[in-house]
Amino acid sequence: MPEVTAAFHSDVQLIRHEHQALGSELAALEFALDSLICYSEVFTNLAATERVYRCGRHLVRTLPEHFGNEEATVLAEMAALSPELGKFAEEMKQQHRELRQKLTGFCLLIDQVEGSSDIEQAVSEVKECGLEFARALAAHMDAEERKFASVAH
Ligand SMILES: [Fe+2]
Ligand SMILES: [Fe+2]
Repeated sequence: MPEVTAAFHSDVQLIRHEHQALGSELAALEFALDSLICYSEVFTNLAATERVYRCGRHLVRTLPEHFGNEEATVLAEMAALSPELGKFAEEMKQQHRELRQKLTGFCLLIDQVEGSSDIEQAVSEVKECGLEFARALAAHMDAEERKFASVAH
């Protein structure tokens, strides 16, 4: 592995803190999504949907900033180290675009719940889409953490 700088180590530390914060947000989102299936009454589902909505909105505000920080620091520094790491950085940036789209689609589905003619179906779509997004973001951050650890050992 090529030499890494002290700046790289401290950038990795910052990104790790952001991943921990995002991990907590994902846990809150998954908890809120789980509560969607606890109740069958429509009005209760709307209350649970409101919780899911707040989690989704919060991620809409925080996730792009994390992606931006990561691309400007750790991923850019890795790309300068080797072509193989440059390829990894490109893959991660592509996943950032896909994750942003998934999050947008998820928030759109939440918006549509209240006006839906079949609320049970709409809620189940929100749940499915939300869990898929949570799984994809968790897998993305795991892949990054493993790669960061292998570079900044
Ligand atoms: Fe990332
Ligand atoms: Fe990340």
